[in-house]
Amino acid sequence: MTRLIFLFTLLISAAACSRTPLDGGELATSKGCVACHGNNGTATAPSYPSLDGQWERYLRLQLMAYRSGKRENGIMNGMAAALTDEEIRALAEHYGR
Ligand code: HEC
Repeated sequence: MTRLIFLFTLLISAAACSRTPLDGGELATSKGCVACHGNNGTATAPSYPSLDGQWERYLRLQLMAYRSGKRENGIMNGMAAALTDEEIRALAEHYGR
């Protein structure tokens, strides 16, 4: 029995390690970012900023600032609130350079 549990634990950790990194493009769609920032970062309306061409690091820092409330915006504070560090990294990588 103990050996079975050991094998099971091994299997689970192997699966966790081989997990493919998050796809920023898919996240942008599933999280609703594309509605305002478009698929590739060209905004859909003048009231939304385009993200394409922006530095990945800058975008990551902005998303972290929105999440923590350090940067205030009614829309983006809500959008960033539920994002994990990993999701922020993937989204910044997708939109930025
Ligand atoms: C309803 C429209 C809307 C949605 C949906 C939305 N955003 Fe935004 N986003 C905005 C607006 C408006 C701003 C500018 C806010 C400000 O003035 O700080 C902004 C700003 C940003 C910025 C900072 C840009 C800069 O130049 O500093 C980033 C990065 C960003 N959004 C990423 C995202 C991501 C990633 C998502 C999805 C999780 C998302 N946004 C969803 C409207 C939206």
